[in-house]
Parts: sequence; structure tokens; C-alpha cells
Amino acid sequence: MIKRPGRPYTLFSKLMLSHLAVVALSLLIVGFFLTYLIEKYFFSAREWEVAGQARDVAYLVADDLGRGDLTAVEKTIETIAFSLDAKIRVLDDYGAPFLTIDPETELVENKIDQQEGVGLEEREIEHVFKGNMLTKKVYGPVLQRLLVAAPVYYEHSEMETEMVIAEEEPQIIGAITLSVPLLGIEENLAQISRLILYAGTISVLVAAVFVYFVTKNLTRPLYKINQAALKLAEGNYDCKIEEKSNDEIGTLIKTFNYSVEQVEKNVEEQKKLEQLRRNLVANVSHELKAPLASIRGFSELMLDGLVEESDKEKYMQVILDNSVHLSRLVDDLLTLSHLESGQLYLEKEEISIDALARWSFDSIATRGEEKDLKMNLELAPSLPVIKGDRTRLHEILINLLENAVEHTPPGGEVTLKVYCLDYQLVIEVRDTGCGISEEDLPYIFERFYKTDRSRAQNSGSSGLGLAIAKQLVEMHNGRITVVSNPGEGSTFSISLPVHDTRPGKNDVQQADKK
Ligand SMILES: Nc1ncnc2c1ncn2[C@@H]1O[C@H](COP(=O)(O)OP(=O)(O)OP(=O)(O)O)[C@@H](O)[C@H]1O
Ligand SMILES: [Mg+2]
Repeated sequence: MIKRPGRPYTLFSKLMLSHLAVVALSLLIVGFFLTYLIEKYFFSAREWEVAGQARDVAYLVADDLGRGDLTAVEKTIETIAFSLDAKIRVLDDYGAPFLTIDPETELVENKIDQQEGVGLEEREIEHVFKGNMLTKKVYGPVLQRLLVAAPVYYEHSEMETEMVIAEEEPQIIGAITLSVPLLGIEENLAQISRLILYAGTISVLVAAVFVYFVTKNLTRPLYKINQAALKLAEGNYDCKIEEKSNDEIGTLIKTFNYSVEQVEKNVEEQKKLEQLRRNLVANVSHELKAPLASIRGFSELMLDGLVEESDKEKYMQVILDNSVHLSRLVDDLLTLSHLESGQLYLEKEEISIDALARWSFDSIATRGEEKDLKMNLELAPSLPVIKGDRTRLHEILINLLENAVEHTPPGGEVTLKVYCLDYQLVIEVRDTGCGISEEDLPYIFERFYKTDRSRAQNSGSSGLGLAIAKQLVEMHNGRITVVSNPGEGSTFSISLPVHDTRPGKNDVQQADKK
């Protein structure tokens, strides 16, 4: 018995696992790109916003810083830092920080923070002091921060000292840095990840339902096929499966049904062959038994000296007749067995049918005439040449003529007629004998088949002649048929394809068509 597959190997688990893998992979890829894009978007938006604020701060402190009013600067910065929740630093005209306000730690420093540094490298400070804005991400102790640096421009008023009055261009007198935590972005990203997780869970649930129905649809016919195949294995051929679909499983079922038909046909054929073999053994034994018994009986009688001298010759003749019959039977059996195993080869040659017909007719004619039968030979003029095995064709004709003579009572007629019809050569053996009944007619070409009448006569025939003749005719690509009316006679007809190489000789249509 074949076991059903265990849990991890079922189609359902395989499909489920592959679907899950696809869902997980897709979500991972989508999640990755989405996170990247959103982060980029939020970051540039925030960057733009913070840069604007930094520019404003630089503008607001410019005057106080230019005048050196540091208290005012600190006050302004403090207000802004707390309102924007941003850490603001002010750098002097050498780029050194001198004021830091951090609302998170509520720290107000007026000195350089040694540990943290400015958060800008030297070349970045130089870049800012050339009049540029600078934006960068810095990594704080807990969160990422966005740091923006902006130069502080100062325009000297005309009221100021004569020393600087000549300068009209605004001058960079320091810089401010503004740093804010990137908290919003990370929160947003966490939310998106959560969304992706929810979407994943829903997809998995949907996939599970989907896979469940798909596998149910797939496995139902497979289960049916399995059941049917098991039935078939037990020899039950009533196991065809109904299927209308045209997909791969539908095709598989159609193939399965076809295989069932073929197996059934083959098994039936095997059974028939087996039956034939059994019948053959039984028939052969039966056919051998009678002549052997008579040979043995008469030999024993003679050896025991129980036979009168005058009867001896008669008994010897019986023994001889039975031996001849036996050897004919064995010859026929050998021919049949060769025919069936495909080991009988025809020695084909071009044959003049006139000569062949005369040869066979003459071999039997005397026997017929002795039985007071009228023996006729009717040959159509200019018969074509045929290709075949002379000896085998002679054997066939002899058997038909022998049968005719055998089954026709004295005073009757036996005719051998040869003519052409529709590119076929027809050989007819006609008699006015007892004929064959309708019940016997379909079976007379079978091995060992004899009509009751023949069996009763016990003529020493074996019932193999017509079986051999039929197979030999078929090997010549011909056909043998019989028409018979009980009490009136029978006509056996052999038709053979014409083979004529002589010019003009294939005009068989013109030949006798009587
Ligand atoms: N011309 C015929 N008229 C009536 N019955 C016939 C005729 N030819 C054949 N049969 C019947 O068909 C049977 C089979 O013929 P078949 O030639 O095969 O065997 P057989 O003549 O009995 O034996 P074998 O030919 O082997 O010696 C015969 O036994 C006979 O009953
Ligand atoms: Mg015969």
C-alpha cells in the first residue's frame, strides 16, 4: 500500500511556504525602497525648513553681534532656541564657538564645549565663512540630528567709526549653527514599517485562503487518480475518471483513462491467448490420442500372435495409415507454430497461375474421379503472373480441393476455376456437396474446428487445413472467403493481388469475368 505524503511534503505546505516566501520577499523589497524614499523626502523637507530658520537667526543676531552686544545676542538666541526647540551655537569671526544654547539640557554655555566640538570640520567652517550655507547629518548620543550652519553678515552703518566707513560691502562677522533632532522622520519611518507589517500579515492570511482553495482544487483530482490507480492495480478496470477540464491535470486524467483502456485490452488479449494455448494443448492431445491408440492396439495384437495370418496385412495397413495421419498432423502443427511465431518465410517467385492450378488439380483429380465425382478445371484465358510461394499456394489449393472431394457425395461435382476481377486474381473451389451450416460457417477457419458431420465421419482429418490456408493466404496479401448453402454445396474463394511485369498483361479487367 502506498502511503499518503506526510505534513511537510503535502502540496498545501509546499505551496503555502512558497507563497509566504514570495510575500515576505516582496514586502521586504517594497519596505526597503519605501523607507529610503520617505526618509529622503522628509529629510529634504526638513533641511529646507531648518536652513530657512538658520538664515533668519543669522539675520536677527547680525546687528547685535556687529555692535558687540553679546547680552542682546544671547537673549535673542535663547528665545529662538527655546521656541524652535533647536540647539543654536554662535561662532565668532575666527570660527570659534562662543555661545551655545541647548533647550534639551537647558544649557547655556559661553565657552567652547570641548567634548562635543562645534560639529563642523575646519574646511566646513571655511566654506561657511566664504558666504555659503551648510547642511549635514550628525549623530548625537541618542538620535540623528540635522545641523545647518549659516554665515552672519553685518553691514556697517554710516554713523560708525571712520575706519570702517569706507566699506560698503556686508561683511561676515561670524556664523551660527542650528541643530535639530530628526525625531519626526524616525517616527514616520517606524509607522511605515508598522504598516508594512500589517500589510504583510493581511497578505499572508489572504495567501493562506487562496492557497487552501487552489490546493483543494489541485489535490481533489489527484486523489481521484490515486484511488483509480489503486483500483487498477487490483485488476478492477471500472476505474475511469470523469474530467472536463483541459489543463495539465485534465490531460493527465485523459491519459490515465486511455491507459486503463489499453491495459484492459491487453489483459483481455492475454487471456484469449492463454485460452487458445490451453485449447491447443487439449486439442493436440486429443488428436494424437486416437491414432496412437490404434497403432498401439494393433501392434500389440500382432505381437501377441492373436491375429490370423490373412488379417495381418489389413492391420499393418491400419498402422501405416495412422502413422501417415500422425506425421501429417505433426507437419501441420509445425507449420501452424511457425506461422504463429512469425518464423515461416515465403519463398516468393513469379508464378504462372495456369501451371499451378493444373498441378494442384491433377494431384486430386484421380481421387475425385475414383469417388465418381465430376472434376472440372476452368481457367480464364491469359491469366496474369502472380508473386508467391509455389509450394505453399499448392498446399492451400490441395486442402481446398481435398475438402471439396471429401464433403461431396458420389455423382457430385467439384470445380476449380481461376479468373481475374478488379486487379485481383480469384481462385474458386466449388463443390455440390453437403455444404456448411450457418452456425459452423464463422468457425471453420479456426484451428481444430470440424463440423459435427465431419467429426462423426472420423475421417482422420484434424481441422487444421483451413486455419493454415487462411494464414498463408494472408501472408500473400490475399483474402479467403466462403459461401455455402447446406445441402447445395460450398464455394471457397481466394483473391490475390496481381503481379504482372509483362507489358499489356495487367489488362486484367478485360480478362474473363464470368
Ligand atoms: N467443402 C466443404 N464442404 C463442407 N464442409 C467443409 C468443406 N470444407 C471444410 N469443411 C468443414 O470445415 C472443417 C474444417 O476444414 P479443414 O480443412 O480446416 O479441416 P479438415 O479438412 O477437417 O482437416 P485437415 O484439413 O486438417 O485434414 C471440416 O472439418 C469440415 O467440417
Ligand atoms: Mg481439410
